[in-house]
Amino acid sequence: MRTEQPKMIYLKDYQAPDYLIDETHLTFELFEDHTLVHAQLVMRRNPTLSADLPPLVLDGQQLELLSVALDDRELSAADYQLDDSHLTLQPTAASFVIDSSVRIHPESNTALEGLYKSSGMFCTQCEAEGFRKITYYLDRPDVMSKFTTTLSAEQHSYPVLLSNGNPIASGSEEGGRHWATWEDPFMKPAYLFALVAGDLWCVEDQFTTMSQRAVTLRIYVEPENIDKVQHAMDSLKKSMKWDEEVYGREYDLDIFMIVAVNDFNMGAMENKGLNIFNSSCVLAKAETATDAAHQRVEAVVAHEYFHNWSGNRVTCRDWFQLSLKEGFTVFRDSEFSADMNSRTVKRIEDVAYLRTHQFAEDAGPMAHPVRPDAYMEISNFYTLTIYEKGSEVLRMIHTLLGAETFRKGSDLYFARHDGQAVTCDDFVQAMEDASGVDLTQFKRWYTQAGTPRLEASASYDAAANSYRLEFRQSCPATPGQAEKLPFVIPVELALLDAQGRELPLQLVGEEAPVGRSRVLQVTQAEQAFTFINLAEKPLPSLLRGFSAPVKLSFPYDRDQLMFLMQHDSDGFNRWEAGQQLSVQVLQELIGQYQRGEALVLDQRLVAALRSVLQDEQLDQAMVAEMLSLPGEAYLTEISEVADVDAIHAAREFARGELATALFDLLWQRYQANRELSRSTAYIAEFTHFARRSLQNIALSYLVLSGRPEVLAACLEQYEACDNMTERLTALAVLVNSPFESERATTLAAFAEHFKDNPLVMDQWFSVQAGSTLPGGLARVQALMQHPAFTLKNPNKVRALIGAFAGQNLVNFHAADGSGYRFLADQVISLNASNPQIASRQLSPLTRWRKYDDKRQALMKGELERILASGELSSDVYEVVSKSLA
Ligand code: PHE
Ligand code: ZN
Repeated sequence: MRTEQPKMIYLKDYQAPDYLIDETHLTFELFEDHTLVHAQLVMRRNPTLSADLPPLVLDGQQLELLSVALDDRELSAADYQLDDSHLTLQPTAASFVIDSSVRIHPESNTALEGLYKSSGMFCTQCEAEGFRKITYYLDRPDVMSKFTTTLSAEQHSYPVLLSNGNPIASGSEEGGRHWATWEDPFMKPAYLFALVAGDLWCVEDQFTTMSQRAVTLRIYVEPENIDKVQHAMDSLKKSMKWDEEVYGREYDLDIFMIVAVNDFNMGAMENKGLNIFNSSCVLAKAETATDAAHQRVEAVVAHEYFHNWSGNRVTCRDWFQLSLKEGFTVFRDSEFSADMNSRTVKRIEDVAYLRTHQFAEDAGPMAHPVRPDAYMEISNFYTLTIYEKGSEVLRMIHTLLGAETFRKGSDLYFARHDGQAVTCDDFVQAMEDASGVDLTQFKRWYTQAGTPRLEASASYDAAANSYRLEFRQSCPATPGQAEKLPFVIPVELALLDAQGRELPLQLVGEEAPVGRSRVLQVTQAEQAFTFINLAEKPLPSLLRGFSAPVKLSFPYDRDQLMFLMQHDSDGFNRWEAGQQLSVQVLQELIGQYQRGEALVLDQRLVAALRSVLQDEQLDQAMVAEMLSLPGEAYLTEISEVADVDAIHAAREFARGELATALFDLLWQRYQANRELSRSTAYIAEFTHFARRSLQNIALSYLVLSGRPEVLAACLEQYEACDNMTERLTALAVLVNSPFESERATTLAAFAEHFKDNPLVMDQWFSVQAGSTLPGGLARVQALMQHPAFTLKNPNKVRALIGAFAGQNLVNFHAADGSGYRFLADQVISLNASNPQIASRQLSPLTRWRKYDDKRQALMKGELERILASGELSSDVYEVVSKSLA
């Protein structure tokens, strides 16, 4: 048992730093069995505080202090205090210089935080609090400094030496070593520091900025991956152009670098001028990466690039403000992706993801506001709420202000705060000042956790030709927040006539109609809007484009939903109507299953999807989205008590029925697209993503028929395709199919062919981890023994353990608790090697309140076993203790 509990850190305790660091001069001597770090910090008393000189408390963890000097005077142990996480000393003047030397051990750093080694190269990860594992420092985002960095290493193994900013000098040393010095002219907090030393190749390109400056672009990878970089480079150039056009933001250094590393806890990191990426978010080419992977690379490259302004030039005052940079940057990258691909499809994907995962987080023990007030371990707060809900909050501001005014607000924000570390309030203030709109009540989105419910109902008065829409909003209690005040909920809506046309929208009191689709603001707990001059009873299209992250309910019947699926002029709401129809139908099947009745599918769903499949006009990606039934995880999220087996049985039954009823149409659509795939070389472009997504979902339905011609098609696609999207789909379809021998041979052939490509092997693990056929846990346990698997690599953990616990719900929730026991064992072992990854893998267990009593007891039992397992990291301790509270 841990003896000392990690402390809670509160926003209300924020205090400005006692001292500032104007300049930071770092020297790294990298060796195989240790690294020496020398830091010279040019410091002064914070001039905004009193003139007295409090003790200087530097952060530092797992450092071996070799020497420390104050203004050239070597200090002895009597001059300072040293504990696990601080070095404290007493300055004697308002300005002074600290020189320290420490020894660290990147070669044995398995937590992948601070300086560590990945596939033989040295790299760093400093956000949020990793810099304190490199040297003694004021490791907080509101201390910004000008950095110069010199690194030296053995030349043969580490020919490339990189850090932030511009290279200013380099040379060789005796004994086969060499060195390089980099200078970053921009002030930055330590979390944006980075260095890389390795045997890397790069692809170089150029971008000319809007003021005609030439910027060198380089993407560094291991030599064997040099053929997989072009897509990331293209994405980078598109991002740079987009940020100039849409936000007026220009790049500011002469060089921009990306480095791909294999072992990385997250997706990527926006270090100034030197982004470090998980290789899964950089490398992409047709033969080895799926369409989804290509789109992810494009989005993550953009996200990290956009941080140069939203995060780096203007950074966070403290970590409670994390969504200031992350919510904003996700909003920016999602709009970029919408512009590069299909806007409606991007919105559908984002909303499906938010509703499945962020809503679940908001309903669980780790629920927290977009701007939290307290945390134990900041690494646990890189959440869907900070990122995805934070982005939705920005989208709402964008909706309320309009694109043009929002841009004025963002211009003001960047101009006002360039070079500063600021708060979410500062951001909102800039938006208010630029627009004249009072966002006081709106700011509750930043401070109140939980997903608001919005119940809508309507009544038509034929005599008065008026239509009254009533809204009631509420928000469930979340940990530490029993009562919630009303939110500002922007509801974009239209009213449709019997032909599906949008009617003019005129509210009582308005002289004339104001458009046919408009945004209402629901700001009270109960609020009604009356529309007039409506000669017939309309059907409302509500919350268009998902204009607010709420759970909306309106008493549509199934026929109305079918009507909206066909006629709503808002593409998102057409999809949404299909989802609601599917949910109603699936919930009916779930009930039948639970009562032990024969399952009977409502034929209206068949009819609705038939007309979708027959609609040759509809974007094929939309057809694919509409054919995708709500996932098991989403059905779980919207259940009061989730019946895992009933959900799975109902959904599989519906898929089987649809496959039979729509076989011919699916087969036609499949073959037409497969024929196109055969006759055109792979292109990573959205019209091609669209048709492949329809081709592939069609195949996944078709295989349920068990018919030999589908098996033949599947094998043909697997063998003859030129890209990973088709190949992996064929494999996944086989893995989940009854064709046992083909499954085994294809899996083996795939592994043999791709055994040297770790990212492809991740896919191979995931496909099997996700297979809902019985015996899932045993398969996963066997795969953990595979030579390509290792718990040391986060991508492998996510591909196998994460995919099993997060996506294979029937197997993970096996009634005997074996899935829970397995996951707890992995968390206990990861807790010692990589706490951040351990803590993230825990999240399925935190959802225990969703399940029946027996499963609840088993899940809680495993959480308690983790708590009792020994010394826990603050990461794991926080999640486990909050889950059991
Ligand atoms: N700041 C990174 C991003 O979202 C995420 C990250 C956080 C990476 C912490 C590593 C560690 O772009
Ligand atoms: Zn980010």
